[in-house]
Amino acid sequence: MKTFTTILLDWYARNGRDLPWRHTQDPYAVWLSEVILQQTRVGQGMDYWLRFMHRWPRVEDLAAATEDEVLRMWQGLGYYSRARNLHAAARQVVAMGKFPDSLEGIRGLKGVGDYTAAAIGSIAFGLPVAAVDGNVYRVLARHYGIDVPINSTRGKKVFAELAGSLLPTDQPAAFNQAMMDFGATLCTPAAPRCVVCPLQETCEALRTGRVGLLPVKERKLTVKTVHLTYLYIRCKGKTAIRRRGKGGIWQGLWEVVQPLPPTARPHHGEGLVLLREGVKHVLTHRILLADFYFLETDEPPVLPEGYIWVDESDLDLYAFPRLMEILFESLP
Ligand code: ADE
Ligand code: SF4
Repeated sequence: MKTFTTILLDWYARNGRDLPWRHTQDPYAVWLSEVILQQTRVGQGMDYWLRFMHRWPRVEDLAAATEDEVLRMWQGLGYYSRARNLHAAARQVVAMGKFPDSLEGIRGLKGVGDYTAAAIGSIAFGLPVAAVDGNVYRVLARHYGIDVPINSTRGKKVFAELAGSLLPTDQPAAFNQAMMDFGATLCTPAAPRCVVCPLQETCEALRTGRVGLLPVKERKLTVKTVHLTYLYIRCKGKTAIRRRGKGGIWQGLWEVVQPLPPTARPHHGEGLVLLREGVKHVLTHRILLADFYFLETDEPPVLPEGYIWVDESDLDLYAFPRLMEILFESLP
């Protein structure tokens, strides 16, 4: 084995994190952990994984749930397409009769990309494939002093090949999870702990003083700012909400009234209060700037199509995006 791999595996044996999904090889449990951890920190993801496993211990149980139930359980994790894909993939697996055990089969599940397929394949089935994510790019870029942009076509190839050449084919699960833990706890983005790093003697970035400069990332798309106006209406203990239709990250989630085209503003009339202005909410490809209004009235206003009146005390029966929770927190 390469020195890098030997040192990494030795470090992992002593310092690897004891995470609940590491005590099982059940592909369903492993898959669930990987989907949850796609955009979520381990600390937060753990709670959700435990709750999902408790409520739906087998893939058949999850497949039998409704999408609403799954979205409700997912609430707070964000990136709700993951929850919808999770649910759809559970039904795919049940239709197939068993969890797919080849890389192509796993990759064919909804919401499973190359990284997640490699992680599941190696951890649940011992397939000898490297799972290359941001942690892996960072650790390898630094240790080998590679300044090819990690989000370029060539970069993806270079790092995938390097990771593959370092992977010990008899211990792919340990190697991949060692890379995750090493990147998450030692070779971290902002504060790598080179002083206590077992790879410091062979680390090229450390030797050449480039730890803070690696990995290199090409700036590609500009993040768009979107203005939104939301109106929370309180009418005899009820409020109006609607379910968002197809398309967008909030598909299937609920929201309160969006009264006017985004550039317009409601008039300050009787009972209308501006709760908060310019609430900033950062998503991956978008920055939302939202104004929250509150209207208390005894006369139910006429609403655009699609809204329903619900008891305010029933709001926790619906799945809302985080931005709506922020609005709820500022209600009088
Ligand atoms: N991030 C993604 N997958 C992970 C795993 N299996 N363990 C720890 N962190 C992870
Ligand atoms: Fe990362 Fe520092 Fe270790 Fe190099 S020495 S691998 S930069 S933690």
